Amino acid sequence: MTVLKDRAEASVARAIAGIGNGTLAGETCAPELAAAPWIVDLGVPGYGPGASKNDVLPAGSPSQGQLPARYREADDAELGEWIAAARARLGDRVAVMGHFYQRDEVIQYADFVGDSFQLARAARELPRAEAIVFCGVHFMAETADILTGPEQRVILPNLAAGCSMADMADIDSVEECWEQLVELFGDAPDAEGLVPVIPVTYMNSSAALKAFCGAHGGIVCTSSNAQAVLEWAFARGRRVLFFPDQHLGRNTAKAMGVPLAQMPLWNPRGAHGGLADAELESARVILWNGFCSVHKRFSVAQIDAARAAHPGVRVIVHPECSMEVVDAADEYGSTDYIAKAIAAAPAGSAFAIGTEINLVRRLAAEFPQHEIFCLDSVICPCSTMYRIHPAYVAWVLEGLVEGRVVNRIAVDERVAADARVALERMLAVRPDTTMAA
Ligand code: 13P
Ligand code: SF4
Repeated sequence: MTVLKDRAEASVARAIAGIGNGTLAGETCAPELAAAPWIVDLGVPGYGPGASKNDVLPAGSPSQGQLPARYREADDAELGEWIAAARARLGDRVAVMGHFYQRDEVIQYADFVGDSFQLARAARELPRAEAIVFCGVHFMAETADILTGPEQRVILPNLAAGCSMADMADIDSVEECWEQLVELFGDAPDAEGLVPVIPVTYMNSSAALKAFCGAHGGIVCTSSNAQAVLEWAFARGRRVLFFPDQHLGRNTAKAMGVPLAQMPLWNPRGAHGGLADAELESARVILWNGFCSVHKRFSVAQIDAARAAHPGVRVIVHPECSMEVVDAADEYGSTDYIAKAIAAAPAGSAFAIGTEINLVRRLAAEFPQHEIFCLDSVICPCSTMYRIHPAYVAWVLEGLVEGRVVNRIAVDERVAADARVALERMLAVRPDTTMAA
């Protein structure tokens, strides 16, 4: 375990570069991450190096064209000067949002740092910002576009920054699943007024899926309010269809007392999801077969090793981790929960954290009074978050200074209207906290 004393030491990019050139000890899952992200902008199939590099990128996913040479060839100091100059010219007409999982080299330029929902909400509260530069992934930029005014433009600095988990549930497969469920159960409410199925989508999903939920009596959830949202859904329906993350769905429903036998896994490639009618009949939560490759890396063996090496360590994992990992941890919660738990702990606490490495190392640097380390000793960031680099931030900001909006993420208003319904239902649900495992 390393206690990181400052931001420079916390940088995942520096650690990977150091491992690559032999100046730092350690291991990374993808030494190619030491190269600039624009190397993979043209033609490399998949998500690029990092935790989701082996996931299947759907056909038609947005791709990023070649970044102009001015930005590819600039060093960090030049990029910093250009970003500062552009920011000075643009003033509060632009806001830069940085997701917790972004590399520190990007976070240093962010006006707001937070989870996906906090950032979308922050953008909505900045009506003077004509442009929101969203340093996160595609579904987050879409959500910001849905929640902000029509005159505000949301920009994703690298269009290839998607989310492999969000891509595991596409609108066509979800509509096919829905048709099969309606064929089996109908769509009329029963004697108690409960409809057969309520669709619930995790925030980590396309705008089309949020719109699907809005149009079909469903709702959106985040990792901080999943239990309150499931309670909302159970008050209105017999069952929930939960997508795309099976783990968040399973961990949340299990904590609410739903037996595992009533949470079948829907495989979009099989007829009826590969499930028997009786399994679907008795289901309380039908889980979509999606997962996060970053959080899938955490294991019970890592937790055991952390406890053996650091007696008394507090193990906190994200609910996108597998059920076995969540069960073995002391606590689980959203990124915001993890950050707040660390901030509230007495000095001298030790934490083993199961979430994305950029956030863990930043927390370790911000709270040197604690021992904070990632459960996974291999440095393996979210590949898609890692596609954003200061060079792209400089490119989009200088574009704005010249009156050019590049990489705009604009959700069709018909889709946005239905998606807003599902998001507003979520906003009306009381927030919940996360329980100890
Ligand atoms: P948040 O909802 O906490 O922003 O997390 C997003 C995410 O991608 C988790 O893997
Ligand atoms: Fe998607 Fe996982 Fe990356 Fe989050 S960490 S953006 S869920 S791939």
